[in-house]
Amino acid sequence: MKVQGEPTRSIWVETDGWTVGIIDQTRLPHAFVKVKLSTAQEAADAIRGMVVRGAPLIGATAAYGVCLAMREDASDAGLEHALSLLRETRPTAVNLHWALEGMRRVLTPLKPSERLAEAYRHAAALCDEDVACNRAIGGHALKLFQDAWDRKGRKGRLNVLTHCNAGWLATVDWGTALSPMYLAHDAGMPLHVWVDETRPRNQGALLTAWELGQHGVPHTVIADNVGGHLMQHGQVDLCIVGTDRTTAHGDVANKIGTYLKALAAKDNGVPFYVALPSPTVDWTIHDGVRQIPIEQREGTELSDVTGRLPSGEVATVRITPQGSLAANYAFDVTPARLVTALITERGVCAASEEGLLSLFPERRPA
Ligand code: MRU
Repeated sequence: MKVQGEPTRSIWVETDGWTVGIIDQTRLPHAFVKVKLSTAQEAADAIRGMVVRGAPLIGATAAYGVCLAMREDASDAGLEHALSLLRETRPTAVNLHWALEGMRRVLTPLKPSERLAEAYRHAAALCDEDVACNRAIGGHALKLFQDAWDRKGRKGRLNVLTHCNAGWLATVDWGTALSPMYLAHDAGMPLHVWVDETRPRNQGALLTAWELGQHGVPHTVIADNVGGHLMQHGQVDLCIVGTDRTTAHGDVANKIGTYLKALAAKDNGVPFYVALPSPTVDWTIHDGVRQIPIEQREGTELSDVTGRLPSGEVATVRITPQGSLAANYAFDVTPARLVTALITERGVCAASEEGLLSLFPERRPA
């Protein structure tokens, strides 16, 4: 995607051939700041501190974290240390484990002297794969957008609601749920996006709104609890979100509040789509509510709000009373029965074991 006319991805190798460039997403939309990672510890800190975030980008950053570790110590012990350091950063997005297992698989059989070059090669391939998956997801989802637009008699605008940020900032490029929005807008469809603010980290208000604005896609930021009201009044034609982990039976973990949007969508007959590259499927689990680990973060993310003062200065202020406890659950699980369809790089399927296996038959147990 482009920022101020310049094409960029969310992660890249710098021209020195080894440091890893990222965008500091904690500074957006107030400042567009690039940061260089030079150690595995810095990569782990960037993931934990949400300087980078979004399931696919967490996986890509972890892969490059292993590359940086191989510069310091490419021994078996060095590899194991890097894998466990990066694995402990955030618990819900399964892409992290997928990326680290991929690095382990390709690096373990090699001699330490061969590992550094192969690590960078594999991390780059993983990033390119993510970009290709997301572009393909966009194409499949665009057909669903066009169907919804046809159902509306191609009148007015197509109103799409999304939660959190599943755009190019959350992936290597294109995004998952936002990929079809870019394609639809570019194809001339009169698209309008309702952007859930997504408390407490406000990924919608800060990141999705910024991304869509950079691309000229019409959008309106709404408070998290508005979606149900809009759906009751025919103001949402479809919902589309990303996911951090989807079970083999189609239960979907995504940013806290997604479940309530899916319930409101079901009650109002609004299609609720989930866009995901296949590395977001956790084929080892079936029951999302009981088996997906839900991250709990610092209560200060809830009690404190950051924004820009009229002076231009960015400041953080406390909004809850001193002494009030804050429970900060970062994700929830939407059961498969509330999901109209999953949109993957291989096409669209029912949110069910059979649906997923129809697209990924190689996962069918022998
Ligand atoms: O806590 P975050 O910002 O990492 O959460 C991100 C999300 O929940 C996204 O919707 C999800 O990772 C899908 S991104 C393509």
